[in-house]
Amino acid sequence: MREPIGVMGAGWVGLVTGACFADLGHDVIIRDVDAVRIAELEAGRVPIHEPGLGELLGRNRDRLRFTTNSTELFERAGLVFVCVGTPPTYSGDADLSAVWQVVDELPSARDRLALVMKSTVPPGTGVAVRARLDARGLSHIAYVSNPEFLAEGTAITNFMQADRVVVGSFRSAEGDRVALLLKELAAPIVRTDVTSAEMIKYASNAFLATKISFINEIANVCEEVGADVTSVAGGMGLDQRIGLHFLRAGVGYGGSCFPKDVAALKQLAGNSGYHFQLLTSVIEVNELQKRRVVGKLRKHLGSLRDRTVALLGLAFKPDTNDVREASSLVLASRLLAEGAHVKAWDPVAIEDARPHLAGVQLCEDLLEAVSEADAAVIVTEWNDLKALPRLEVRTAMKNPLIVDGRNLLDPETVRQAGFAYEGIGRPSSPVEGRLAPQPPELAGALARSLAEVPAG
Ligand SMILES: NC(=O)c1ccc[n+]([C@@H]2O[C@H](COP(=O)([O-])OP(=O)(O)OC[C@H]3O[C@@H](n4cnc5c(N)ncnc54)[C@H](O)[C@@H]3O)[C@@H](O)[C@H]2O)c1
Repeated sequence: MREPIGVMGAGWVGLVTGACFADLGHDVIIRDVDAVRIAELEAGRVPIHEPGLGELLGRNRDRLRFTTNSTELFERAGLVFVCVGTPPTYSGDADLSAVWQVVDELPSARDRLALVMKSTVPPGTGVAVRARLDARGLSHIAYVSNPEFLAEGTAITNFMQADRVVVGSFRSAEGDRVALLLKELAAPIVRTDVTSAEMIKYASNAFLATKISFINEIANVCEEVGADVTSVAGGMGLDQRIGLHFLRAGVGYGGSCFPKDVAALKQLAGNSGYHFQLLTSVIEVNELQKRRVVGKLRKHLGSLRDRTVALLGLAFKPDTNDVREASSLVLASRLLAEGAHVKAWDPVAIEDARPHLAGVQLCEDLLEAVSEADAAVIVTEWNDLKALPRLEVRTAMKNPLIVDGRNLLDPETVRQAGFAYEGIGRPSSPVEGRLAPQPPELAGALARSLAEVPAG
């Protein structure tokens, strides 16, 4: 009988990894330190919003075991995939305490055990783990790096139909063992050393974040010169050397990966004495991009004091309830600081966002969120929001202004539906078209506020 696969961590990566391996016919044992989460999973409830995950866990229930007990996992599993969180520390470095906890729990008795690192860890971590294992007399325990590239919202497809699988090892036989298992995914397998595998993950995320900040700066210039960034991106992206992906201008990237991984790579370079200038700019552009909406609102409404702004979408992207580093959180706090009354809606992430949104009126219902609002801001491109420019929304709003932070809507359709429209990097409605009058004394404040907005 085949040994079960072990998974450490029941978050996005751990649950998707476990469910997919179970679906491929393996017995899987998933361990988390969070007893509430394990109890929920045992009761058949899925603690995260990830399309298809509930169904996959349900149909493979017989092959899945959930536990809080690491000894049980290490006794039964041969390959142990480490999928614990590696959040940022205050310094911007990766917090590896959960990874070290797993390493320190490893028993000495098991001889066929292999630790397979899926968590995103800074280059050099594998070397440090290997040294710690050797120092404990655990040279027989294999260590392999297998970074994960899935994206929330499409995680199962990304795992099952990966563009590539990266396997980094110290000894080729150890890499062979993991590659043999991952061959089932029918993706090209990149075999390399452990540090290069770790670097592939960081470099990939840093490159994608760079693409986003690049197109956001192009969008900001488009606004200055009267071009439409959606056409520009389309025209650029058809060049195969550039590609269409990650050229969508918007209110910046967020989520549990890009912000922390880009910051960690920048810090890692800095700790080694190298100033990673490009990444410093990528991060700064992203921070400023999240705030540009405030300038757009002021352009139409003047002072935001006592204005009501509806934030539509709180998750960092659609099809997830993850609000880590979401642009919505930054925007909400900027708007509150401007004296605005902030309402917010999301189809799945209200409860996840609640602890971060003191002072914001959270609404389960979209119409309730836009009711009496001076502006509605699309922060997450949820499908439901494609139907936003409709009569009942216009009637409910005090001032029908839509700020489309994700360029989700067709500007012309929105205008025809009777709304003023502001996108990102595309022609906007003239300010004269606003429905709420702006007192003349605000003109000076408006000029100052626009001057604060970074010009691409
Ligand atoms: N979420 C993504 O889209 C994504 C994609 C690729 C890579 N990654 C990387 O994968 C790793 C996991 O990410 P995630 O989003 O799944 O994190 P997550 O925060 O959703 O889940 C991590 C889980 O690990 C558990 N945990 C902590 N210490 C543990 C321990 N000692 N033993 C067992 N479980 C423990 C936590 O309780 C939590 O449930 C991170 O390094 C992340 O950067 C994430």
